[in-house]
Amino acid sequence: MPSQASHAVSLTRYLIEEQRAGRINAELRQLIAVVARACTSISIAVSKGALGGVLGDAGTGNVQGEAQKKLDVLSNDILLEANAWGGHLAACASEEMDHSQPIPDAYPRGGFLLLFDPLDGSSNIDVNVSVGTIFSVLRCPEGVECAGDEHFLQPGREQVAAGYCIYGPSTMLVLTTGHGTHAFTLDREQGAFVLTQRDMRIPEQTREFAINVSNQRHWEPAMQAYVADLLAGSQGPRGKDFNMRWIASMVADVHRILTRGGIFIYPWDRKEPGKPGKLRLMYEANPMALLVEQAGGAASTGRGRILDLAPTQLHQRVPVFLGSKQEVAAAERYHQSAD
Ligand code: AHG
Ligand code: MN
Ligand code: MN
Ligand code: MN
Repeated sequence: MPSQASHAVSLTRYLIEEQRAGRINAELRQLIAVVARACTSISIAVSKGALGGVLGDAGTGNVQGEAQKKLDVLSNDILLEANAWGGHLAACASEEMDHSQPIPDAYPRGGFLLLFDPLDGSSNIDVNVSVGTIFSVLRCPEGVECAGDEHFLQPGREQVAAGYCIYGPSTMLVLTTGHGTHAFTLDREQGAFVLTQRDMRIPEQTREFAINVSNQRHWEPAMQAYVADLLAGSQGPRGKDFNMRWIASMVADVHRILTRGGIFIYPWDRKEPGKPGKLRLMYEANPMALLVEQAGGAASTGRGRILDLAPTQLHQRVPVFLGSKQEVAAAERYHQSAD
């Protein structure tokens, strides 16, 4: 009888089979494999914690106005280095870099653009709570010799791949190339990601929401009304009790939603003037929106589909409502009736 291990589908095998089926080309397959390798390196660094000297602040700031953690900087460097020489990319852009970086002249350039949030949930690093890496892949427009920020400004529906790696009790890579959302778990002994859930599905209805309620006073009236009705439970207009979870790592909150449903919200707020919410469209909202839609869920700004937004800036912020389809639609109704 064949052993259990012989039935395991590695990420490598999954990608080769996707290529054979004509759903991805060899260049995209190799690019995803490089990103997965970089995530394995980040996972090793994250898991060393204090023993690796990787905790705490880097003493620098990023273009978001945030203090960078050592692991923000290290993860960014790991992703840049791993992707520089493969020949699949034209340029990279990151939460931690002011502008996109073309692949150095010393290496061949390929046909894709890679965006990443190298370490999501930075505030959780020092307290040993799950963090992650989020990535998004776009095509470099035809005929572009040296890609700049403007070439990244494509709607999220143009993504050819998106995913995240969660560094939790186990390390998992969750990936879509536009044909379902699939989860792979890192087998540390083998050094390989193994397919552990094909075709993740988000239940259409939920009784669980995720939001940072401490920002309530900064929300618009439609949001105030929506959350008040969630909190009113079975006695309120929604007629059911809701539970609340907030990990403060988008990767971990979205992973829970892909696993058992729910709605994740970072709404528009007036906390920071000129910034419509906290999350970034290009390397947080768009990749998560594609993963969630490919798992049967929805992703909205509260007023429309995230993947249809036409970006104007690399570091653009956007309100985010994503998860169980019917709950996202319910949140949208509060916003529409207020407009
Ligand atoms: P990052 O660590 O990449 O800057 O992202 C942090 C984001 C996201 O992971 C999370 O959902 C949110 O910020 C947490 O916000 P609060 O600090 O308001 O809880
Ligand atoms: Mn940050
Ligand atoms: Mn983030
Ligand atoms: Mn980050």
